[in-house]
Amino acid sequence: MIPNPLRDPRDRRLPRVPEPCALVVFGITGDLARKKLLPAVYDLANRGLLPTNFALLGFARRDWGDTEFAELSREAARQYARTPWREEVWEQLAADITFVQGSFDDDNAFDQLAATLDELEGTHGIGGNAAFYLSIPPSMFPTVLKQMQRTGMAESTPGRWRRVVVEKPFGEDLPSSRELNALVDSVFGPDDVFRIDHYLGKETVQNLLALRFANTLFEPIWNGNHVDSVQITMAEDVGIGGRAQFYEKTGAARDVLQNHLLQLLALTAMEEPVEFSAEEIRTEKLKILRAISVPEDMETFAVRGQYEQGWLAGERVKGYRQEEGVDPASLTETYAAVRLGVETRRWAGVPFYLRTGKRLPRRVTEIALVFKRAPHLPFAETDTEELGNNQLVVRVQPDEGVTLKFGSKVPGSVMEVRDVSMDFLYGEQFTEASPEAYERLLLDVLLGDATLFPRNAEVEASWAVIDPLEEFWAGTTPHPYRAGEWGPRAADEMLAAEGRRWRRP
Ligand code: BG6
Repeated sequence: MIPNPLRDPRDRRLPRVPEPCALVVFGITGDLARKKLLPAVYDLANRGLLPTNFALLGFARRDWGDTEFAELSREAARQYARTPWREEVWEQLAADITFVQGSFDDDNAFDQLAATLDELEGTHGIGGNAAFYLSIPPSMFPTVLKQMQRTGMAESTPGRWRRVVVEKPFGEDLPSSRELNALVDSVFGPDDVFRIDHYLGKETVQNLLALRFANTLFEPIWNGNHVDSVQITMAEDVGIGGRAQFYEKTGAARDVLQNHLLQLLALTAMEEPVEFSAEEIRTEKLKILRAISVPEDMETFAVRGQYEQGWLAGERVKGYRQEEGVDPASLTETYAAVRLGVETRRWAGVPFYLRTGKRLPRRVTEIALVFKRAPHLPFAETDTEELGNNQLVVRVQPDEGVTLKFGSKVPGSVMEVRDVSMDFLYGEQFTEASPEAYERLLLDVLLGDATLFPRNAEVEASWAVIDPLEEFWAGTTPHPYRAGEWGPRAADEMLAAEGRRWRRP
């Protein structure tokens, strides 16, 4: 591209297109690749955001040729893409698709992959640049990373970048995540490692920073002087699908509390970054993650649950222990709720209640700031019975937007005050639909922009929060809750112990 002298290089509003490159996906036959990665690649192509010289490489054990792989990719993209289907876009992309067959411990297969990358320089002009996406079980990371090291595939050299994308969970506790981080760092340079937490790719999550730091309205009250408590909810109506093998070992706390929810907490609580750059945002988030305190009384303030059979949307659904591949005596949690503190001047004394669960009544993720009650109400008590706390709710998904809840006079001749809400809905204010999280994040990897990727220290600080919870829970039986209900009673009791209640989103 010819540089435009009139354009400020910091102006990022114009579409940024990556340099020529290849994207190599390990585990291309998996669910994530099919439902998220391949559709995201298509959507990027459809939006004209992939470089002209681009190649997509799939690596898996399956005995496929390029054509079969292209066909599977087409089906996946067609079924799950966000943007309209355009055959001509696909045809062009399909010409850039290559499949390499092999298992992760097969030296020949990796030699073949390295050779294919070299060939693509000639045929597709990828300039030697490549991003490797590890969409594989973490137990396979060491083997694959060592293969990449052995073949020299991982080496960035002047004029050629090599990057790796690591999917969560990054380890299963602090020691194993340290080990994994050390391993990744011994193969790739620190700026070449992209740890994916797809919640950071969500438009509404990024809007949290705009809401807080682009306005004057909210920041003055965004602290413990005005905020009574914060509730962060990530509820899912789905069960564990076909992921029993993964989920049995993982559970809700390791699966999403350690990453998505703690990242949401960090963005909610952090100070304003000096500038909107990877380094500065990560620095501020890290300070918060390090300032998190876990409850002393875990019995009351750290609750885990497991769903039993029940009803959801008019359908009878199985209990967790009856799911295929799950141990009938499993102690794995499908629900977790915890009260955390953030020990900083801004937040000391404000509880952050986090909860997540599967088979809850609906899919909803939100961050709610619940404000303190007015110190005095100059109305008769009966007139304010239906006045709750003011609340600011960032609706991450679905119905992306922001809601402000406050009291208002009920029309009539008496001074009755009741809660009302004011809504900002993305769908109403903007005509352009939000990109999918993976679309944004894949593009950022190819551009080398690490702003939305947690760094090593953040991951480790998050494990330091989770480890004591896991230690407390080890060997205990999770509280049962019926599928279709808002989690176990113990989670309600946790808030009731402090005179509060969960929001019913
Ligand atoms: C993943 C978890 O990280 O996030 C899944 O492993 C969960 O268990 C998923 O279902 C939810 O993502 P989203 O974007 O649908 O909220």
